[in-house]
Amino acid sequence: MKLSARLSALAGSTALVLGALAGAAPAGAAPAGATAAPDIPVANVKQHLADLQSIATANGGNRAHGRTGYKASIDFVKAKLDAAGYTTSIQQFTYNGTTGYNLIADWPGGDPNQVIMAGSHLDSVTSGAGINDNGSGSAAILETALAVARSGYQPDKHLRFGWWGAEELGLVGSKHYVNNLATTERAKLKGYLNFDMIGSPNPGYFVYDDDPTIETTFKNYFAGLGVPTEIETEGDGRSDHASFKNVGIPVGGLFTGASRVKSSAQVAKWGGTATAFDRCYHSSCDTTANINDTALDRNSDAIAHAIWTLSGTTTTPPTGTVFENTADVAIPDNGAAVTSSVTVSGVTGNAPATLAVGVDIVHTWRGDLIVDLIAPDGSVYNLHNRTGSSADNIQQTFTVNASSEVANGVWKLRAQDTASADTGYINGFKLTFP
Ligand code: TRP
Ligand code: ZN
Ligand code: CA
Repeated sequence: MKLSARLSALAGSTALVLGALAGAAPAGAAPAGATAAPDIPVANVKQHLADLQSIATANGGNRAHGRTGYKASIDFVKAKLDAAGYTTSIQQFTYNGTTGYNLIADWPGGDPNQVIMAGSHLDSVTSGAGINDNGSGSAAILETALAVARSGYQPDKHLRFGWWGAEELGLVGSKHYVNNLATTERAKLKGYLNFDMIGSPNPGYFVYDDDPTIETTFKNYFAGLGVPTEIETEGDGRSDHASFKNVGIPVGGLFTGASRVKSSAQVAKWGGTATAFDRCYHSSCDTTANINDTALDRNSDAIAHAIWTLSGTTTTPPTGTVFENTADVAIPDNGAAVTSSVTVSGVTGNAPATLAVGVDIVHTWRGDLIVDLIAPDGSVYNLHNRTGSSADNIQQTFTVNASSEVANGVWKLRAQDTASADTGYINGFKLTFP
């Protein structure tokens, strides 16, 4: 089906599902041990872009390093973060004989030894306002930071946000930040997420191919939306994540394309035209008109999803002997049950009273799903039965008392989708025997 048709079909039926569920089930809690990220209002992100545009317009048309529009951009972002309760600091550096600025914002709390950081360059080139490059990333992480504050989120890990100066002159600000971090501070950075150009007017959906955990977190989010992604290849190392990657910090990020031309295959999967992803890249027409709202919206939500997921409750993975099946199994929409199997062997006697059942189901609406564990003799243990589910995927470890089951044999994870419209697949099934 064409993307446009599929999207409108989805939009129509999602409303039906929402309506049906509203009466049937209480607003669902997120899976135990995790808090779902809120939806990031794209209107707020767009307002930040309008404000950055006004700043450029009032300062000679740009927000470039060494120009008044850059410092005004820093002051604008800092004021919002200060008002929301962030601990902010401005880091100065000198480049090309002028002062540059990074803005660092820490959300109080979380484990100081485990830091998740998101960053975007705030400078533009001198030829324009830099609204896609990189008002888009800057505004999206700003709104995500404000959403953290609004929701009173208390993550397990410490959260930090950064806005970099002089990226356009060679990643100058982010290099300065990393170079001035003591080795002990670098070691605390468990992930750096970079967002540079995420609202391109003719967008592609690119995920950086770096740290596998960060990459999978983003890919799962887009899979849940039914939006295909590709690995980012338009110049690895061309943005601030390179400064972090160079010193061994795990990195990841999102990108919707710059001057490269969208292929016909990419037009087929994402829509748009076989022209540049951003025809206004580094030009005077990179204004608020140079933004695709859908791309900005999806990427902003993906950022929040990744920040919540990566900073959330760190459930220490169960230890023991693992039997796992990572083959994808499609779950037919409103259809028959499907299974994924693992064969347990070499375990003596019965299964434990605390059998760890790792479930990884990517789905657009977990409220459609019935999920069971089936023992080798056919006994059924229900893990999830539609209720309490206003969220999407099921990615959690269930503990099952399986002490009456013989351990060795074929165990199955069974999933059935019982309502139309939302869809997904079994991404993985894992049993851990202590
Ligand atoms: N600011 C970047 C640049 O001018 C934009 C960019 C191009 C980019 N290719 C990229 C950002 C790939 C991330 C990944 O170089
Ligand atoms: Zn950029
Ligand atoms: Ca469904």
